[in-house]
Amino acid sequence: MSTRPALPAGRRPLSIPDLFEMKRNGRKIVMVTAYDYPSALAAEAADVDMVLVGDSGAMTVLGYPSTVPVSVDEMLVLTRATRRGVTHAVLVADLPFGSYEVSDRQAVETAIRFVKEAGVDAVKLERGDESSISRARAIVGAGIPVVGHVGLTPQTATALGGYRAQGRSAQSAVRIARGAVGLQEAGCFCIVFEAVPSALTEELMPLMTVPIIGIGAGPATDGQVLVFHDLLGIREGKGAKFVRRYADLLDAMADGVASYAKEVRSGVFPAAEHGYGIDEAELESFRGSFTR
Ligand code: KIV
Repeated sequence: MSTRPALPAGRRPLSIPDLFEMKRNGRKIVMVTAYDYPSALAAEAADVDMVLVGDSGAMTVLGYPSTVPVSVDEMLVLTRATRRGVTHAVLVADLPFGSYEVSDRQAVETAIRFVKEAGVDAVKLERGDESSISRARAIVGAGIPVVGHVGLTPQTATALGGYRAQGRSAQSAVRIARGAVGLQEAGCFCIVFEAVPSALTEELMPLMTVPIIGIGAGPATDGQVLVFHDLLGIREGKGAKFVRRYADLLDAMADGVASYAKEVRSGVFPAAEHGYGIDEAELESFRGSFTR
């Protein structure tokens, strides 16, 4: 069981109504993914508003080729570790592929595990088709806040023709619009728009009464989300078009480990100051008392 850790005096956890107030006041909502204690601490130190334990962790942290293979148990481990570091932001976890598609009952049971076993504030599910809308309604009905996700939905990227922008034809745009409105009507308190044309987002925003968080959806949304490893450069390659890299930590980490390896091999590390001392008399006594 993971519970919300103590907050410094005078600071209270953000709530879902706070996010609605930010939308009303035009204050941008900042969301970032995190998957463990240190990334949660970094997100909190940066004072973000929402932390998402994304199933992108399947790739960024667990090394799977896509988000599809990650299990509920694996996601729960990542989510509990993140919970231990998140004190202020609203904490959301992704329901992984296969954990909510079968039935409303399966969806509610999985969502309950994330609340009871990892202490999340909300869960997120992908797609805006009829079945996902039904799952969202069922989970909300069980008293658990839900974030929807439309546009590019990586769990079903194969069916969408790969990792590519969605909503670029009228038919695809209608599908996204129906999904967003349907998820909102089902009770989702927030919806992620991923990889959809900026102009389509602008068309949809007047219809959206809940906070909309964009990733590759242009500037018109109520907030933005990026994957921790993308924005900090803890990954190989350039990443998606919508990513801006604010640091190159993979290079910094590799340089650090390479310097360590070089110093071990050359005998520079450890130096005298990294060792522990022993009293000369104790050492002498040891020599006298230990025989092979
Ligand atoms: O899994 C994830 O990181 C996500 C974000 C890209 C929204 O779903």
